[in-house]
Amino acid sequence: MPAQIKPAWWKEMAVYQVWPRSFCDGNGDGVGDLWGVLEKLDYIKSLGVDAIWFSPLYPSPNADYGYDIADYTDISTDYGNLELFRRVLREAHARDLKVFMDLVINHSSDEHEWFRKSKEEPASPYHDYYFWRKGKGKKPPNNWKSTFEGGAWEYDGDLQEYYLHVFAKKQPDLNMANPALRREIKDILRFWLEMGVDGFREDVITYIAKKEGLPNGFPLPIGTGLEHYTNQPKVKDYLREFRDEVLAPFGAFTVGEAPMMTPRTAKEFISEGEDQLLNLMFHFQHMEADCILTDWIPTPFRLRKLKKVFSAWQRELRGVAWNALYLENHDHPRIISRYGSEKYRVESGKMLAAVYLLQSGTPFIYQGQEIGMVNNRLDSVEKFKDVVTFNNQKLFRKLGISSARYLRLANRRSRENARTPMQWSAAPHAGFSRAEPWFCVNPNYPEINVAAAEADAFSLLHWYRALLRFRKENPLVVYGDYREYKKNSRSLYVYAREHEGKRLLVICSFSEKPVRFRAPPGFDLLHGKRVFGNYAPPERQNDQFLTKPYECRVYLFE
Ligand code: NOJ
Repeated sequence: MPAQIKPAWWKEMAVYQVWPRSFCDGNGDGVGDLWGVLEKLDYIKSLGVDAIWFSPLYPSPNADYGYDIADYTDISTDYGNLELFRRVLREAHARDLKVFMDLVINHSSDEHEWFRKSKEEPASPYHDYYFWRKGKGKKPPNNWKSTFEGGAWEYDGDLQEYYLHVFAKKQPDLNMANPALRREIKDILRFWLEMGVDGFREDVITYIAKKEGLPNGFPLPIGTGLEHYTNQPKVKDYLREFRDEVLAPFGAFTVGEAPMMTPRTAKEFISEGEDQLLNLMFHFQHMEADCILTDWIPTPFRLRKLKKVFSAWQRELRGVAWNALYLENHDHPRIISRYGSEKYRVESGKMLAAVYLLQSGTPFIYQGQEIGMVNNRLDSVEKFKDVVTFNNQKLFRKLGISSARYLRLANRRSRENARTPMQWSAAPHAGFSRAEPWFCVNPNYPEINVAAAEADAFSLLHWYRALLRFRKENPLVVYGDYREYKKNSRSLYVYAREHEGKRLLVICSFSEKPVRFRAPPGFDLLHGKRVFGNYAPPERQNDQFLTKPYECRVYLFE
């Protein structure tokens, strides 16, 4: 290992993300909950992960499914209660699984008591917890646009003031410049850490400071004002304060979510040393290989774009900071339906798993990814549930896109594809619930489900387990150097890892068509051990071969 890489538990761990509403319904009301999580803890452990990240479990009116929090120190009755959460925490810890909560502090719900008071008692200290401003004549205070829809200001007729919301209007932005609010946030952090929670995933953390004076932004079709509400210098001051006063004394783990993040900027937050503000950062760049800026503006998939991003992050962070690796979460369509192929679901799913799990970094796996869940196809827009899908519908209608075309787009590109109930078995409702689930189960569940995958030795599920085991057993995968080969190929992604005399060669085809592969110089496949392959082993090992659809082979050289 290069002298500069310091081993750490959070570099060696793998994390499983639970989006609670759709994970497992234990009390039979059609909504996933913590009773369901308790039932499935052994399953989560069996994957070989070391931690669980729970998307928000707090009370919420669900305008953005939990990312609009109405009470930061309680558990939603949809999911259980605090006592049940404590039990989940104990049971997870008993299995050596750490637990990370989602921390959403850029905004609260408009149903949070703070917001209610800020509105009903404008003379109270709560008024300044949010951005309440007078308009400019009949216009809002500035030209900022919301990331979700339309303007970023909502007018309140009683107060005759506007409040800022860079997401939905039920998600008013919190004014982090207010020290009393920051004290509340630190109390919230302490509340969970004292209970035993091990860390936090921090939602849009680079948005939590706004430029003083809230100046107009450069006019854009969406996101006007971004340059004033993302990545302001004050973000670092707030994070430093949270770290020094609360997080560091507890040894808490943190991963920040940061749209529009580049390796250079990420390093300002996650470079190791005294001024490290977060352990890891989720960036979005590798999620843009088949779209422009947002999932909703699709382009054909471009492997070279994907490889360039992956390699840049591997190279730039090497020895300085640590990568967070993911291909799915609750905000994107399913990866097989995007970068792989539903026709070659298992083959391409295995290839995609190897592509990212064998890189240097801490991997995150999203519920259902490990069994190769794919996008859903709904037959009407009314069946969707998400604020983004509804808001985009209005936006696209204005652009003259027909409802039928919008439905096709939403089926392909909405994040709701990742939010269908987890498919546990071929039983009714995919074994997710005894009752009618809150959201449509993907009709492919009789074929794609955990029970079927458990019973099939060649399933994607067993492949994920094997890859995670291999990563655990081989420090090469965690700490090794990374080098990319065949950079110009539009079909093959080939990279090597090297560590203490051992080398790993990862060969992945992103194509259905056969592609000729020749081993790079210095890698004699005849002398390598084929440790993974998503097809039967070749009869004769050769240094060159024609790939099968979405073929993946991994060779170890010792
Ligand atoms: C990022 C979260 O992951 C997403 O689900 C949410 O809609 C926005 N932040 C706003 O909180």
